[in-house]
Amino acid sequence: MDFLKDVFTNPINVGLLAMCGYVIYKIFKSRSQDDPGPPPEPELPPMKKKDFTLEQLREFDGMREDGRILIAVNGKIFDVTKGKKFYGIGAPYGVFAGKDASRGLATFSLNEESIKDVYDDLSDLNKMQMNSVREWEEQFNDKYPFVGRLLKPGQEPRDYSDTEDESIEKPKLE
Ligand code: HEM
Repeated sequence: MDFLKDVFTNPINVGLLAMCGYVIYKIFKSRSQDDPGPPPEPELPPMKKKDFTLEQLREFDGMREDGRILIAVNGKIFDVTKGKKFYGIGAPYGVFAGKDASRGLATFSLNEESIKDVYDDLSDLNKMQMNSVREWEEQFNDKYPFVGRLLKPGQEPRDYSDTEDESIEKPKLE
């Protein structure tokens, strides 16, 4: 009972519980909406490898006609369109669509403040948060196609034209 009292009298815990409740609600809501859902949409053709500025990334928030959704994690951009139930409009992690999700993932936050309008070099994050963002990067790398890199201001995009899409190795985790 003391444990429950501790949980409910600490505003941080109450906030975290509320956020979990919200995420669980969103996940279950999107599942029940899918069930019995329409037939799955055909998968989009793979995207040509390309580096993106933050502004270019913004376009891929799922609102384009093709519905493509890209997300940057630790400088790498992934095509998360097949995870629409997570990142689509109204989905629990939709706030990350077309954005650099690194800070939000590192700090376990879905607040808009964790998504910067300008390039975020993450230099103020501590070791634990950086480890966390690398773990997320690994998860995204395993699950979603790698599309390119997030360009720092002034950085030139790479030329991927001489690399066969299928033969490109996924970037090594640094
Ligand atoms: C604290 C309450 C939370 C609960 C209960 C929760 C629950 C879950 C569950 C059950 C999944 C797996 C869903 C599935 O595979 O069908 C999931 C995935 C995920 N969660 Fe959460 N989550 C919470 C908070 C957060 C927060 C705060 C963030 C981000 C800062 C986050 C980011 C993610 C991401 C990125 C995925 C992976 C989606 C993918 O596979 O693409 N979660 N979460």
